[in-house]
Amino acid sequence: MDKTILNGLLRPQSIAVVGASATPGKIGHTVIKNLIDSGYAGKIYPINPSAPEILGLKCYASVLDVPGAIDAAAITVPAKFVPGVTEECGKKGVKGLIIITSGFSEVGDRDLENKIIEIARHYGTRILGPNIVGTLSNSDKLNASFAPFLPLPGKSSLISQSGALLIAMDASTYTRRVGFDKLISIGNMADVDFADIIEWLDDDASTTCVSLYIEGLKNGRSFIEAGRKATKPIIALKSGVSAHGAAAAASHTGSLAGAAKVYGAAFQQAGVIQATDLDNLFDRTLALSLQSPMKGDNLLIITNGGGVGVLATDSAERYGIPLKFAPADVQAELKKHMPEFGSAKNPVDLTGMAGNEWYEESVRYSFAHEWVDGLVVLYCETAMTNPLEIAKAIKSAVDSSGVTNKPITVSFVGGEKSEAAMQWLVENGIPAYGAPDLAVNAMAALREYAKIKEYAVETIPPTKAGAREQALKIIQGARNEGRDSLTEIEAKAVFAAYGLPVTSTKLAKTEDDAVALAKEVGFPVVMKIVSPDILHKSDAGGVKVNIKDEAAAREAFRTIIANAKNYKASANIHGIAVQEMAPWGTEVILGSTNDPSFGPTIMFGLGGIFVEVLKDVTFRVTPVSEGQAMRMLSEIRGAPILAGVRGEKARDRKAMAETICAYSNMILDLADEIAESDANPVLVYEEGKGLKVVDARIILKKIAA
Ligand code: ACO
Repeated sequence: MDKTILNGLLRPQSIAVVGASATPGKIGHTVIKNLIDSGYAGKIYPINPSAPEILGLKCYASVLDVPGAIDAAAITVPAKFVPGVTEECGKKGVKGLIIITSGFSEVGDRDLENKIIEIARHYGTRILGPNIVGTLSNSDKLNASFAPFLPLPGKSSLISQSGALLIAMDASTYTRRVGFDKLISIGNMADVDFADIIEWLDDDASTTCVSLYIEGLKNGRSFIEAGRKATKPIIALKSGVSAHGAAAAASHTGSLAGAAKVYGAAFQQAGVIQATDLDNLFDRTLALSLQSPMKGDNLLIITNGGGVGVLATDSAERYGIPLKFAPADVQAELKKHMPEFGSAKNPVDLTGMAGNEWYEESVRYSFAHEWVDGLVVLYCETAMTNPLEIAKAIKSAVDSSGVTNKPITVSFVGGEKSEAAMQWLVENGIPAYGAPDLAVNAMAALREYAKIKEYAVETIPPTKAGAREQALKIIQGARNEGRDSLTEIEAKAVFAAYGLPVTSTKLAKTEDDAVALAKEVGFPVVMKIVSPDILHKSDAGGVKVNIKDEAAAREAFRTIIANAKNYKASANIHGIAVQEMAPWGTEVILGSTNDPSFGPTIMFGLGGIFVEVLKDVTFRVTPVSEGQAMRMLSEIRGAPILAGVRGEKARDRKAMAETICAYSNMILDLADEIAESDANPVLVYEEGKGLKVVDARIILKKIAA
């Protein structure tokens, strides 16, 4: 995409307000007033057929009457007039429309929304919204919205799917002391979506970090792509993660909110950091917008109080950056800046005796030390010290250390003086928080960001050559018979085409066939019914295991056929699958679904009771790199079982990761054919001994008649 295409919309040189009103209290009045009050330097054109002027500005009956060019038009006329206005703006050559008006897809009127999109596409006009508050930018002195004022200036820019939340966050930037450069309301995302704006903000000189409030993505794949390409940190707060919350989000925005686990996976694949709630979004935004990523795991904490030091130590473990003792040279040096009874281990306790000098000397030394990857400085307000002076000592130490590629976060616990000192720190580029846990959580965000960006460069293993042709032949065969599911034998053949290690399985039509095949495969064997009408084979008595000889094979053949006929007299029975009896291993499951936001998505978990009762599964959007596959294995709760517990050897995780990648390539390659699939169970053996897919299922997408 040509990123400059959004310049007219997000950085307009001139702006019309269609539906401008002379009546105070109307949105069309507020937007004009906001543009004037924000100090916008471009041309403002109020558009209203009956008013001669509004707030001292000459008014035009239509955009077509405006003498000069118009970059953007904020639309505040009722919904039914929006198509006509869009047409006029198109004719005028307006580059972008900021459609504040509600009453489109969010209330079920998709036709009206599609109509304006069709008109806009015809003229090459871009649309922000509809159903938005507007857009605000400190660096452009632009308040093209009905939010009350520009936010406290800051280095991050926020894109919000909720208009009301954007207005609320606008005001709270002042009380929270976390500023933003831009606040962009995105509403129904009928045209411009998160991905477009993320790409545009990545080139915006006034933005160092992008913060998102997301209810549901329409095009999850373009979001992942934009995130992977972004050079600035992105942090997202996703609402609708509870079952009830997801339903509320769906009706609120008219978009579909996917499962929380899928979003979590997609954020990781997109290189996007997550916030847990609104407070956390502000806190993490502050750190990500002001500080460098934390590139290693060595976190040093300096404090003047043991209590806050221990609290921070607990937090560090909780957020995945557990403390290690500082190396001997660091300890020896820091010992010089504390009393005898201080501790230089980590956390470094300068004690309540610590004044400006000890803070300054220890911060300067440790920040510059190569062992330290990130520094958290804590301070408890004492009667012996002045918080602002401590703050200045910390800042001076950071500046004089000469280090610019490491992060520092600070927490002052105290009263008004500490509050003022922290405000000074934030204004001077150092994120400061009222509790040690918040400072550590902010540092953890900087660590997560560094790690997640490493994942983004991982490569995806190639899809096996010729696999698609083989698979399509099998799928077409089933479709020719009017089926929309594959038999186990067919599904395994598709899996095998993509390189998945399936158990050898052959079809016996007669008892004699079964015996011959069992001898070929080698006793003991498993025998299973093959019928497109019987998907749950065990329920139908259609599975016999551990068949040891010819007599047992003949007996099993007759029993399975009889059971199947009993279960469903009309079932079309293809025959009986004779397959090798795989030795027992750790049972895992692989599955795939088509997520409404992200498309083909793969699931992995431990099989049997773990998946059924504990739902101990994890997801990724396809395609999956080997690194992501390995992380899937380690992030389920049952990960220690794969790693080897109680003297058992570790399972073959490398082979499992390769299988996840092959499976992921398969469902992406056949996305137009496969609706759902699973490999269940997959038996995983000891390290070096691989795995076997024992059962396979593929449900095809229905082809429209
Ligand atoms: N060209 C120019 N002006 C026009 C046109 C036109 N084609 N048609 C009408 N107008 C004028 C009207 O005459 C009126 O001006 P006036 O006050 O001089 O008479 C002005 O446009 C506005 O029209 P009204 O009919 O008065 O509409 P009103 O201001 O009541 O409502 C609005 C319009 C605000 C767009 C409303 O329909 C709406 O959608 N409100 C919700 C907006 C919203 O909340 N969006 C964000 C959602 S996110 C959140 O929840 C915060």
